[in-house]
Amino acid sequence: MTIIQPRSNTRNDWPMAINAKRKKRRPMEPTVERLSDKCVSVSFAPSGTEWTVPVLLASDQHFDSAHADRRLIKKHLDEVVEANGRALFLGDWFDSMQGASDRRGSKSALLPQYKRSDYLNALVEDSVAFLEPYAPYIAGWAEGNHETSILRHTEFDLLGATINELNLRTGSEIQRMGYSGWVFIRYLQYSSGLIDGTKKIYYTHGSGGGGPVTKGVIATNRRATFLPDADIICSGHIHEAWSMEMRRERINCNGTVYGETQYHLQLPTYKDEFAGDGSGWWHETGKAPRPMGGWFVDLGRKKNNNFWTYKATPRRAE
Ligand SMILES: [Fe+2]
Repeated sequence: MTIIQPRSNTRNDWPMAINAKRKKRRPMEPTVERLSDKCVSVSFAPSGTEWTVPVLLASDQHFDSAHADRRLIKKHLDEVVEANGRALFLGDWFDSMQGASDRRGSKSALLPQYKRSDYLNALVEDSVAFLEPYAPYIAGWAEGNHETSILRHTEFDLLGATINELNLRTGSEIQRMGYSGWVFIRYLQYSSGLIDGTKKIYYTHGSGGGGPVTKGVIATNRRATFLPDADIICSGHIHEAWSMEMRRERINCNGTVYGETQYHLQLPTYKDEFAGDGSGWWHETGKAPRPMGGWFVDLGRKKNNNFWTYKATPRRAE
């Protein structure tokens, strides 16, 4: 099998080397590979009919915000570790709005560990300390608008610094990913050496405000049109939560028709700005409470007439 080396996690240095040597892994360990600049694959080796593993899709943690629910972040990551699943972070891990150059900032909103003149370094250090036990379980980490904003205004790459530090400390191979991209979930059959039943996840961190009434649902039809290959399409950014199933009829080259479902998932947030004493910008602008957490995709399989069929079923992480 041709293997492409993961690209560097420094944003401006993403070379690819084909046929590069890779470390040998234990067969049962999910394998993460970069297939292209825009696509990462995570390969699992299922065994038995009861096999099931969760993949966590999480965005908008806003980890360094005083409103972030760190216990919920930990709870979901602990579930991933327990089941030897994998996590995908899909933008806005950082809130990072309290820097000197940010007009939205307020020093009174800072957590104590960030009250330093090297604020951005403090953000990286705190996230690394929290994520170190979870680093081997994070397959991909994409940027959101809060990270690209810091890069634009301060020329500091928060994600690159955090991912590189975690990879150096733990030997993990977290893949740095762009604002949008693909993650393939693949199933390795070691008996036959086949890769079968690939599930294709398209993600974008998201854009726009979502709309207080429509909550971003209208985007599903637009995305379904230009992303026909995706089994799951997910986005974050607007701090809402919903799923929508689009059933499709497909036909193969023998004229046999079959049905399949494309799932659209809206990833909520881990930041609760509604909580508190009812004062502040959130309440002055009439904003509603937001759903918290993320989505799991439960991978599983079952045998039909001697053939395995593979499933990827969304479940709210809350
Ligand atoms: Fe965002």
